[in-house]
Amino acid sequence: MPTIDEVKCEPDVVRLLLIEDDEDDALIAKSLLSEIRGIKFDVDWVSSYEGIPTHIAQSQYHICLLDYYLGSCTGLDVLGEALQYGCQIPIIMMTGTADREIDQKAIMLGAADYVIKGEVNSQLLERVIRHARERKKAETERAELHAKLIETSRQLGMADIAINVLHNVGNVLNSINVSAGLIANLLQKAHVGEISKISDMLKTHADNLGAFLTEDSKGKFVPQFLEELGKDLSSRVSQTLVETNTLLSKVDHVRRIIDAQQDIARPGGLQEPVRLEELTDQALMINREDINHHNIEVVQEYEVLPQVILDKHQILQILVNLIRNAKHAMIDKEGNSHCLTLRILRRVHQVSQLEVQVSDTGIGISSENLTKIFAQGFTTKAKGHGIGLHSSALAAKNCGGALHVSSNGEGCGATFTLILPEKVLEVPG
Ligand SMILES: Nc1ncnc2c1ncn2[C@@H]1O[C@H](COP(=O)(O)OP(=O)(O)O)[C@@H](O)[C@H]1O
Ligand SMILES: [Mg+2]
Repeated sequence: MPTIDEVKCEPDVVRLLLIEDDEDDALIAKSLLSEIRGIKFDVDWVSSYEGIPTHIAQSQYHICLLDYYLGSCTGLDVLGEALQYGCQIPIIMMTGTADREIDQKAIMLGAADYVIKGEVNSQLLERVIRHARERKKAETERAELHAKLIETSRQLGMADIAINVLHNVGNVLNSINVSAGLIANLLQKAHVGEISKISDMLKTHADNLGAFLTEDSKGKFVPQFLEELGKDLSSRVSQTLVETNTLLSKVDHVRRIIDAQQDIARPGGLQEPVRLEELTDQALMINREDINHHNIEVVQEYEVLPQVILDKHQILQILVNLIRNAKHAMIDKEGNSHCLTLRILRRVHQVSQLEVQVSDTGIGISSENLTKIFAQGFTTKAKGHGIGLHSSALAAKNCGGALHVSSNGEGCGATFTLILPEKVLEVPG
């Protein structure tokens, strides 16, 4: 059996699988194929149904001619099964008589075309084979293009998130800088050098320390000075401790943002047990610095739910996008006190679904924009890319869920709802 590459290297040779239980009919088909000019066929003939569907699906044929009457089963059975096994090559059905019903069924099932044995000549067969192959090629190219577009959107979505993460890390680093500056200032201005000066002074007057501390014009101030120095140093130490703790928690914040980014940036597709509240908190944490900075209140209303099986990478990506957009919408509506509400709930219609809602009190969305909000490239921001919601909607669909939006109009805030299927962990026993 040649490899795919070998098959591709020989464009003029068409590898054809002929499935025909009647030896005479097989000979006729082979003879018709040999009469076709300009194409050389390499024909494999099989006469029994045994193992054929998997064989067609796994082999490197370019095309298959399939007889309808195959003794114990029909060509429709073989066709259906081959397609179930993931058969990619065009299959042309050959029927003994003109039977519209069989022909229609074959096409509906996924056959590329059909020919009637008694009526087919080499020209007709050539045309049917050529058209079937051309259609298959166009179909494959379309599918590849579609897959590429989806992958490009996913990559763009991740790049967009990476920019957001860097922006947020930058903000936290700024406040780390502020804390570090405060600590440096507190230590620089601590009068530690005065302690050794006093110690030198005391050493010089070691012989008459009592008189020095009570009668000398400088010595008299030593006890009071030491008391004030002590107070100043202990206040500086406690302020330094507070600032150091702030600094440590900011460093930890940066580490957690980077951890979350690593979860987002790894390839998707891994289904694992996750807690939605943990993912929601993680997405909030990435944007937390900005949210605090703009005095936005955060309300978290989480229903207690079991762990669910989901692609953590995709869910995080969606939630980071929704929280970031909500934050921008609120920052852009000045003069208000703002609130970001995050809700996690379970809804039971026919099936049980989980919802994560991200609601804001921001600039809202006009009814006109509501209809185009998930389109790639749609943005109303000067520095926007219009990638976030498009890639989020695709990711939600990928997870078997959906992303919805509602808003009462401009100035009235917005709510985005991520709907997810509830796939829970199977508990053994
Ligand atoms: N919470 C929200 N409130 C108001 N408008 C929003 C909100 N979320 C998204 N939008 C609108 O949807 C547009 C597209 O969002 P998105 O795809 O994330 O791209 P970008 O943020 O780069 O503009 C935004 O420009 C904005 O007009
Ligand atoms: Mg966005």
